[in-house]
Amino acid sequence: MVAEKPDLWDRRYADEGHIWGNDSSPTADLLRDTIRNQPGKGPQLFMLCDIGCGYGRDALKFAAAGHTVLAIDPSKKGLELASATQRQLNSEGLMKGSVTFMHGTMAHVLDAHVGHFDAIYSHRTIHLLDPKPVDDFAVKAAERIVPGGFLCIGARSPKDFNPEQMKALTVHGKTVRDAVYTDKKREGHVLHFWDKARFREVFARDFNIKQFVTTTELEAVTNPGVMTSLLIMLAQRKTNGSTPKVSAG
Ligand SMILES: C[S@@+](CC[C@H](N)C(=O)[O-])C[C@H]1O[C@@H](n2cnc3c(N)ncnc32)[C@H](O)[C@@H]1O
Repeated sequence: MVAEKPDLWDRRYADEGHIWGNDSSPTADLLRDTIRNQPGKGPQLFMLCDIGCGYGRDALKFAAAGHTVLAIDPSKKGLELASATQRQLNSEGLMKGSVTFMHGTMAHVLDAHVGHFDAIYSHRTIHLLDPKPVDDFAVKAAERIVPGGFLCIGARSPKDFNPEQMKALTVHGKTVRDAVYTDKKREGHVLHFWDKARFREVFARDFNIKQFVTTTELEAVTNPGVMTSLLIMLAQRKTNGSTPKVSAG
């Protein structure tokens, strides 16, 4: 399978800028509502990690609200845009917390980071990745999230399979799980769709799945009217699972 190439995203951020606008994503909204209701922990004590942060629309909002955020993306162009917004928010005194933008992939961040997070979230990224790195991520995320901490992930759902633009690669029951674009514009670009069953298969070992949310979001602000179907999983690190291997830092 052809994996997503980071240079595609460099190109898109260079051409389209803030592709999905500046509002936070529905995945970040769900996590924000969840942690707002956690007793005894203000935002300044709530460490977050954003996987595939793009130009930082979510990480910067969490940081502005007082969280400490580690945000990672392999797109240098996305991170440049994120840093420009960060400088602007800092200069306007609008940053109550902090965000560190890190260049790298999902695998890098969880290998490089030495402490624990209260929550890890990722919006519109895991459907771009082959199954093996996501399986590895599920194991590492369980080691890096404190027991009772949250994992909130939004990805494209099988409703987005479009036979006019894509060819199915694998089918599970009647659901297309993996597909490749066949139209000229995105030829060879592979998508891995996420339904509830797939989330359970990958994450239920170490996480209690609390909620699924189905939603839509604009495919891009430059493409008004075209919507993307998303499924968001909110899960909580099991407290009776194996103890995280890394000491708190
Ligand atoms: C559709 S964009 C979503 C960006 C951001 N989460 C948002 O919603 O604004 C997907 C992002 O995933 C990043 N990405 C691709 N492969 C990745 C990987 N292996 N690990 C982490 N991020 C990755 C891309 O560079 C891109 O910025």
